[in-house]
Amino acid sequence: MQIVDIDFCGPEDLNILYAVECECFPSPWKRYMLENDLDNLGEIIYLKAVMLGKIIGYGVVSRNDWDSHLQNLAVLAEYRRLGIASQLMIGFDRISEEWGCRRMWLEVRSSNKIAKNFYAKIGFSYRSISRGYYSDGEDALILTAKLPLKVM
Ligand SMILES: CC(C)(COP(=O)(O)OP(=O)(O)OC[C@H]1O[C@@H](n2cnc3c(N)ncnc32)[C@H](O)[C@@H]1OP(=O)(O)O)[C@@H](O)C(=O)NCCC(=O)NCCS
Repeated sequence: MQIVDIDFCGPEDLNILYAVECECFPSPWKRYMLENDLDNLGEIIYLKAVMLGKIIGYGVVSRNDWDSHLQNLAVLAEYRRLGIASQLMIGFDRISEEWGCRRMWLEVRSSNKIAKNFYAKIGFSYRSISRGYYSDGEDALILTAKLPLKVM
């Protein structure tokens, strides 16, 4: 496993997080969405993975009563398969437990086999399908996991 620091993001990270978002997703979040979140951190938390001073991945979790909602997770392509997303998920697991949450849920594109493998490995399983959830009409699978996640 590579040495990576997991840390909280702030408004100053906006530009690089948006660049990571654009590199990782064909339909990235809009810049103003990230900006709005980063100006209103609290029950929504952004974590970044930093290697040698460079942000190489990030994720977003929010609180929803007794559940936490993983809203986003992305690692730059050249740093994948090094355990970076797993490290971010350890952070989100701890935050969710501090919030008193018992479960985490997320949406994933039905075609995103890599992400589905990743989430299955750390304890997520299929809960339901949200037809046409994405703007291009693709379905989202809703996955849930009991906390703590199976990630070390
Ligand atoms: C999904 C994603 C975040 C995984 O990040 P990562 O840092 O590469 O993940 P990890 O290295 O922590 O992988 C942990 C495990 O997930 C599974 N996994 C990860 N990438 C995989 C791949 N390409 N093929 C099969 N399994 C994979 C493996 O079980 C892996 O463990 P192993 O390497 O010991 O076999 C990354 O591929 C990504 O950013 N994808 C594009 C954005 C995206 O789709 N985000 C998810 C939105 S819901």
